[in-house]
Amino acid sequence: MARAVVATAYGGPDVLRVVEHDPGLPGPGEALVEMRAAGVNPADWKTYSGAWGDDEARLPLRLGFELAGTVLEAGEGVDRAWVGQEVVAHPVSGAYADRVLVRASRLVPRPAALDVTEAGALLLAGTTALHALDAAGVGAGDTVLVHGASGGVGSMVTQLALRRGARVVGTASRAKHDDVVELGATAITYGPGLHGRVEQAAPGGLTAAIDTVGTDEALDTSVALVADRRRVVTIVAAARGTALGVTVMSGNGGLTAEQRARAREHVASLAAAGHLRVRVGAVYHLADVVQAHRSAMSGTRGRVVLVP
Ligand SMILES: NC(=O)c1ccc[n+]([C@@H]2O[C@H](COP(=O)([O-])OP(=O)(O)OC[C@H]3O[C@@H](n4cnc5c(N)ncnc54)[C@H](OP(=O)(O)O)[C@@H]3O)[C@@H](O)[C@H]2O)c1
Repeated sequence: MARAVVATAYGGPDVLRVVEHDPGLPGPGEALVEMRAAGVNPADWKTYSGAWGDDEARLPLRLGFELAGTVLEAGEGVDRAWVGQEVVAHPVSGAYADRVLVRASRLVPRPAALDVTEAGALLLAGTTALHALDAAGVGAGDTVLVHGASGGVGSMVTQLALRRGARVVGTASRAKHDDVVELGATAITYGPGLHGRVEQAAPGGLTAAIDTVGTDEALDTSVALVADRRRVVTIVAAARGTALGVTVMSGNGGLTAEQRARAREHVASLAAAGHLRVRVGAVYHLADVVQAHRSAMSGTRGRVVLVP
């Protein structure tokens, strides 16, 4: 019998359980995918922590928004050529499971340059980063401040911005500066005195900022140093970001299905060409999901990924 992870209540990682789960056959427009790796993202624990609501009627909650795997079956209207293909998919509902029903329109062939665990953590962060850079209009000649450049999304923002010809100053904890520098950015430490460190690292000034952290410090520094507030994008601090008049990206963020599909294709093609790296920090079996979440929440160096 196949298994799935569920949150049985709202709370910390202790509410996670592995239960038996039969996904059934794919319906029209769906594919049945054998999960081989599922990225662990902050959105997963925000789903069961209560941060996004604690409606008891929604329990038990399935978790996991992205995966890499193999297509087992194609539903009505889905090209049979997908069957047997190695794929990545996002957004997915309930990726923490042995077998997952996925909208076939959300499948992309797995970039061969990534191993399966890296591929399982590619799309959520990669597409978010791409949309954030588009929202900020980042291109050649820009100098961009990336808050959280050592993180899953921030490291993608950094790589994509550099590929567009921008210069990147990225914040990270001291222990992760090497990771940021390795990507090609200037690393600085967040915390008191940030404003001065940014000015020192970017003496010519900033033209844009992407906030993947959401602290007052990140937003205040950004609006003080970027002249055009529309070119400050936060993917976390919706309320404060709106109050400050910066660009707020949340959830589906008003993007069309076509824009999201194009972003998946673009991110996968860059990864296939070896232009996007995914750092995997730790790999856990589904059965060890509680430990995996504790580890991810403590700020591992690189993504935590679940495998069957
Ligand atoms: N709006 C959307 O569509 C969307 C999509 C994806 C993610 N998100 C959100 O974006 C956020 C980041 O996601 P992620 O996957 O990149 O998380 P992550 O991989 O855990 O990265 C978090 C980053 O924040 C940094 N950080 C931690 N505490 C900090 C502090 N006090 N000040 C400054 N930086 C700090 C970390 O730096 P160190 O590890 O070096 O300390 C790391 O670079 C999450 O809140 C997530 O829910 C939103």
